[in-house]
Amino acid sequence: MLGDKKVLFSGMQATGNLTLGNYLGALKNWVTLSDEYECFYSVVDMHSITIRQDPAVLRKRARTLLTLYIAAGLDPEKNCIYYQSHVSGHAELAWILNCFTYMGELNRMTQFKDKSVNAGLFTYPVLMAADILLYQADVVPVGIDQMQHLELTRDIAQRFNGIYGDVFTVPEAYIGKVGAKIMSLQDPAKKMSKSDENPNGSIYLMDDPDTIMRKFKRAVTDSEGQILYRDEQPGIKNLINIYCACTGKAPDEVVREFDGRGYAEFKPAVGEAVVSVLKPLQDRVEELSKDKAYIDSVIKNNAEKAQYFANKTLRKVQKKVGFPERIR
Ligand code: TYM
Repeated sequence: MLGDKKVLFSGMQATGNLTLGNYLGALKNWVTLSDEYECFYSVVDMHSITIRQDPAVLRKRARTLLTLYIAAGLDPEKNCIYYQSHVSGHAELAWILNCFTYMGELNRMTQFKDKSVNAGLFTYPVLMAADILLYQADVVPVGIDQMQHLELTRDIAQRFNGIYGDVFTVPEAYIGKVGAKIMSLQDPAKKMSKSDENPNGSIYLMDDPDTIMRKFKRAVTDSEGQILYRDEQPGIKNLINIYCACTGKAPDEVVREFDGRGYAEFKPAVGEAVVSVLKPLQDRVEELSKDKAYIDSVIKNNAEKAQYFANKTLRKVQKKVGFPERIR
């Protein structure tokens, strides 16, 4: 708790081109939840370097991502929007938590299994645990693909609390009703991902309206010809999820709306719903980006605020594990 509000933490990597999955699975829910909680939204640039980055590109993408958080409707006066690398506590707590995490636990992480690995990528979930626990977060809104990391975070927190008493709040995941797992438009068995080599499978947040419409018209569906919300039609189910997440409608409403109509009508309708969400967002990012002084002030002020709260937890943890007291 911070004051009379519960705490929320979430973050996104500034790697690659963000997709509609990132928006519908995470960012959109962040905005909905932001009034109810005391929120920390981080641009997790330290996670990004687990894969080799071009420094200038990373810096630029990180700034665009931070701007996107604001453009999406997160007020930086009320929400702490900051770069992970500006708060040294993330790395410091991650080190301590590394000493409370087993190799076997990290070996089981599916994300790690997929790639050839540096030590940073191996211990990446511990840094994520540190992010969350540093702010004593009660709730963490993420897409389904992050659930495994959140379970590990809870295990580490409980293990630590078991040894030292109630140091960490044990966080809960918040998974949205629709949009928690947006699938590729080219292969509905695969998650929509910024690292997909086929750009037609993903809608990028900065795609222009024509590109968005074209990608939806080409979306892989099936030969059933009926718009029904069921697992046997994963392509259509994915399109219904996207449509629902963009319009606020429920799946059964959409099924009724398109009853008797074909895919040739439904696909462009989904495209239009997405354009109507992304176009204003893109315009706002462009407008905000011009105000360099404003973005700079957000970066500075919020880093200080985050550092303050991070240090409170960090000092407590350092004391618990037996580090000597600071002499003032
Ligand atoms: P990242 O940057 O890969 O993704 C950011 C958020 O987008 C969600 N997401 C999706 N949701 C639905 N459908 C999809 N196809 C889809 N693709 C991505 C993710 O679930 C995530 O919520 N390790 C994290 C970043 C992170 C973090 C944290 C998150 C670091 N520290 C602490 C929460 C709390 C990551 O790489 O997310």
